[in-house]
Amino acid sequence: MANLATKVCGVTMDPPLVLASGILGVSAASMARVVRCGAGAVTMKSCSLEPRAGHKNPCVLPFEHGMLNAVGLSNPGVAGASKVIAEFRTLSRAPLIASIFAGSVQEFGRVAERIAEARPDIIEVNVSCPNVHSEFGAPFGGDFDATAAITRAVKDAAGAIPVAVKLTLQCPSIGRMAKVCEDSGADAITAINTVGPGMLLDLATRRPILSNGVGGLSGGAIFPLALRAVFEVRRHTGLPIIATGGIATGDQAAQMILAGASVVGIGTGVYTRGVTVFEEVARELGDWVDSTPERSLEALTGAAHG
Ligand SMILES: Cc1cc2nc3c(=O)[nH]c(=O)nc-3n(C[C@H](O)[C@H](O)[C@H](O)COP(=O)(O)O)c2cc1C
Repeated sequence: MANLATKVCGVTMDPPLVLASGILGVSAASMARVVRCGAGAVTMKSCSLEPRAGHKNPCVLPFEHGMLNAVGLSNPGVAGASKVIAEFRTLSRAPLIASIFAGSVQEFGRVAERIAEARPDIIEVNVSCPNVHSEFGAPFGGDFDATAAITRAVKDAAGAIPVAVKLTLQCPSIGRMAKVCEDSGADAITAINTVGPGMLLDLATRRPILSNGVGGLSGGAIFPLALRAVFEVRRHTGLPIIATGGIATGDQAAQMILAGASVVGIGTGVYTRGVTVFEEVARELGDWVDSTPERSLEALTGAAHG
């Protein structure tokens, strides 16, 4: 079978399939299980300086084309997240990506400094969550200057640990935003976060089903948007891309590779196909690589750009 091992920012992921942030990324045991089910790396739930309770249930809502969620960035704070990293290291040798978010540029720097002490393999900067609008306003990821300042602050604080900036499609141009991140020192781009927010109503109560009223859209419904985003990011930068958004099959992972992704993130696919989605997508991706004249993942990366 094709060799699928891929290096991103000096970190080897084999296979090039990453657990996306927010799905099973809260405990060391759940992340180790995801690795045993075939993931090449895991991303933790985004953490903030202090613990957060998040939104009340129902906060996750599967529907026929994907999922709406408004978890509200519940997390144990950076101290709790650091303990989870230490415990994960005793359970697994797979690379771990820590995800951080904050309410200001300075606070992003402080969270990055604290999480860097726990030595994650990569720090992912979540500037793109659409579910905490009432507290934090529109995501920083819609604003070039704010995203540049956050990227620089996190890079300054992260030392030698590589930094991936996780972008939203909801900005003037995701390609130009990726270039702004590259110029500000980012080492990789994760694209994309959930889209929206969106809403679904309960016909009996005539009210929104999610306690928050609205939530970010993920899963199959956003795959074509995420693919286009990855294609644009590749056109504007040479940074490695962690492509995330609606991927649940080897065919979709292959399209992301052709569009320019180095590795592929899976979130909602864990709900729809089960946690073994990683070994299944790895097998399907490997079969695809073997069926091509190149027979090499590296040679196929970005091939859609001709
Ligand atoms: C329940 C849930 C919780 C999420 N929490 C986070 C989070 O804490 N931080 C983050 O950067 N993205 C979070 N996301 C977004 C995912 O990491 C991913 O970018 C998005 O869902 C698109 O990928 P998918 O279609 O494979 O799920 C969350 C998504 C879901 C469904």
